[in-house]
Amino acid sequence: MLAALGMSAEPHFKRCPGVWKMLMAAVCVALLSGLQAQDHPGQVSIILLGATGDLARKYLWQGLFHLYLEEVGKGHHFRFHGTALTSTEQGQEAIAKVLESLSCPGDMASGHCAELKAQFQQLSEYRRLKTPEDYLALSKDIEAQVEHEGLRETGRIFYLSVPPFSYVDIARNINSSCRPGPSAWLRVVLEKPFGHDLHSAQQLAAELGSFFREEEMYRVDHYLGKQVVAQILPFRDQNRAALDGLWNRHHVERVEIVMKETLDAEGRTSFYEEYGVIRDVLQNHLTEVLTLVAMELPVNTSSPEAVLQHKLQAFQALRGLQRHSAVLGQYQAYSGQVRRELQKPDNFHSLTPTFAGILVHIDNLRWEGVPFILMSGKALDERVSYVRILFKNQAFCVQSEKHWVAAQSRCLPRQIIFYIGHGELDSPAVLVSRNLFRPTLPSASWKEVEGQPGLRLFGLPLSDYYAYSPVREQDAYSLLISHIFHCRKDSFVTTENLLASWVFWTPLLDSLAHEVPRFYPGGAENGQLLDFEFSGSHLSFSQLLPEQLVPGPDSAPLPSDFQVLTAKYRDSPLISAWPEELIARLAGDIEAAAVRAVRRFGEFHLALSGGSSPVALFQQLAAGHYSFPWAHTHLWLVDERCVPLWDPESNFQGLQTHLLQHVRVPHYNVHPMPVHRRQRLCAEEDQGAQAYAEEISALVTNGSFDLVLLGMGTDGHTASLFPQSPAGLDGEQLVVLTTSPSSPHQRMSLSLPLINRARKVAVLVMGRMKREIAMLVSRVGHEPKKWPISGVLPDSGQLVWYMDYDAFLG
Ligand code: BG6
Repeated sequence: MLAALGMSAEPHFKRCPGVWKMLMAAVCVALLSGLQAQDHPGQVSIILLGATGDLARKYLWQGLFHLYLEEVGKGHHFRFHGTALTSTEQGQEAIAKVLESLSCPGDMASGHCAELKAQFQQLSEYRRLKTPEDYLALSKDIEAQVEHEGLRETGRIFYLSVPPFSYVDIARNINSSCRPGPSAWLRVVLEKPFGHDLHSAQQLAAELGSFFREEEMYRVDHYLGKQVVAQILPFRDQNRAALDGLWNRHHVERVEIVMKETLDAEGRTSFYEEYGVIRDVLQNHLTEVLTLVAMELPVNTSSPEAVLQHKLQAFQALRGLQRHSAVLGQYQAYSGQVRRELQKPDNFHSLTPTFAGILVHIDNLRWEGVPFILMSGKALDERVSYVRILFKNQAFCVQSEKHWVAAQSRCLPRQIIFYIGHGELDSPAVLVSRNLFRPTLPSASWKEVEGQPGLRLFGLPLSDYYAYSPVREQDAYSLLISHIFHCRKDSFVTTENLLASWVFWTPLLDSLAHEVPRFYPGGAENGQLLDFEFSGSHLSFSQLLPEQLVPGPDSAPLPSDFQVLTAKYRDSPLISAWPEELIARLAGDIEAAAVRAVRRFGEFHLALSGGSSPVALFQQLAAGHYSFPWAHTHLWLVDERCVPLWDPESNFQGLQTHLLQHVRVPHYNVHPMPVHRRQRLCAEEDQGAQAYAEEISALVTNGSFDLVLLGMGTDGHTASLFPQSPAGLDGEQLVVLTTSPSSPHQRMSLSLPLINRARKVAVLVMGRMKREIAMLVSRVGHEPKKWPISGVLPDSGQLVWYMDYDAFLG
């Protein structure tokens, strides 16, 4: 409209108001400033750093040219400054080549195209940008040129297509020497990677934050510029009526978010070795897509603030990932490529994954129980990216399949696919099964896909879908550059959004740091090797294989090591095995004890410890023990941290997440420790410990738990009974408040005398970190003050040690 009035859209850029404000401002101020705009049209300078690099040559110059074509008729003036560290001569030559190769949209007449291209070339220059003086000179040149041409400076866009280690220096230079004057805006565009983990991302964010305001930064995730990805929220919005009842755990069977590539990492191993597939693709592209699918839909989907808030809420609901939430692979040629490109010795083997499948769960009412599968890999059989939402199907069709009609049959698969690109369809598209509903898409920019006989997608012929593709395909960078110009911040990754993603991924990355990936040959030859499946929250490859084609960092114990195994540890029975077998054995023993106790007494009292070791046990109990008498089981806590029960650090929270929510224990049989009373945590006066002791005495005969599960800390602590701290080691008290050397310091714990009244005590010890203390404790006598674990000796019950080989053999 503004263009039609011959006015500048300048106020549009001054701030980034919401749509309503934007419209108001555009209409009102355009009228007011029309004269002024005509007197002094505005100029935007775009400075592309790394202008001769790969990304710039492939996409960014084309994106800038596209912006120019879109905007030039609308009263804007532009200057494009390609910069790099190379000499002026070399840079000019490189850029002249790129500019020559630029293309216009297919429907533009060639004469017109040539004219605009020549104009664009005229407005583009190369300059070296290295020292603070170079930045100052650039700034002065822009000011002088703007003045000379009788223009007004509207703003500057700095597009940093450079390695992240140079961000901070460049940011400092822009900030100190190349900011535009107060009446013009500054936008700084950054390309990933934005850190390597949470810590480095925080550091980089803090450094950049000291130079730029949040609204000045545009972090690119090019998936947000893919037409189909950019359509997810509008699609959800425009089809609210049909989707409202469907977009939830009652109807969605699973969600798949996939990016498959045929190319490998050759030529990029110096980058790839440091990042791997999870950091390269899942932490950013696939996570962004995940949040767009999973987030609650804001009332106003065009408000960047609302979208961000809803995204952040979605992040908060993501269940933490465990080691078993992932399967990893590496194409076989990878290590050889790394050795060649990075001059590594012949015996070097990389553990960097080039393939990953991840199972994500979202703990909120909308998505509870729905698996979200994220998958990406290099050297796979095809190149394709998509999001597939598969709906549950409870229909039974009486007529035979040949009578099924796509639009009516409830028996055909029902799915919505955001087909991001490539693949058999070879174009972006939104597909909705005809037996779901006819979707609404903006008719000016999306058209129905023409039939392609014989083409089947996700188990259905293309004709069984309502299928739409963009009227005009546009590459992601062109779209994003246009959004930068139009201040559409919702297409970019804000600092909060970025850090939330790293909060989610970093613990998994840490736990997988030494995982040996499964090796795959690459391409079609991968066969079923990488297929994976899930059970509960565990993901595993479908095909079992002898792993370890190359040795991992920890070489496995030799058979001779096992000769040292005895069946006793501290004179009590010892069970030692690989972690999975050990957990399976312990879970089996607990179930057997439960069945016996329920048969004899009608109930089973189980006291459980917190921390990380029992998590796998809880998961095992939750996933595979259907005959467990949960309805007659009472669950007690061995110890608790003095934090609210909903805090992620709470032991009860761990129990809730990994066990309680998956089994059917009556609520009145669950006994969390009362650490949070009268809105205070573990205050002596609140008598929480006494209250728990009374509850135990009232419900557990003689205070004798049927089974107490303990762990052993590296300092010899057990439950929350710590060395050199006398509380709970002897005396009459059943439950005590204690102090831990590590945070959170305040704890509540069963006392040693109460633990020793149990019919059975199982001590679970896992991991290499426990090796030293396991050795030490094997030798010491009864010295609970120094090593509380040494005081565990049931008065008349049985003590059994469960240790994995890492803890026992190191
Ligand atoms: C990039 C990754 O961000 O995305 C590459 O660094 C990957 O490893 C690329 O190949 C895939 O993007 P597209 O647009 O080809 O799907």
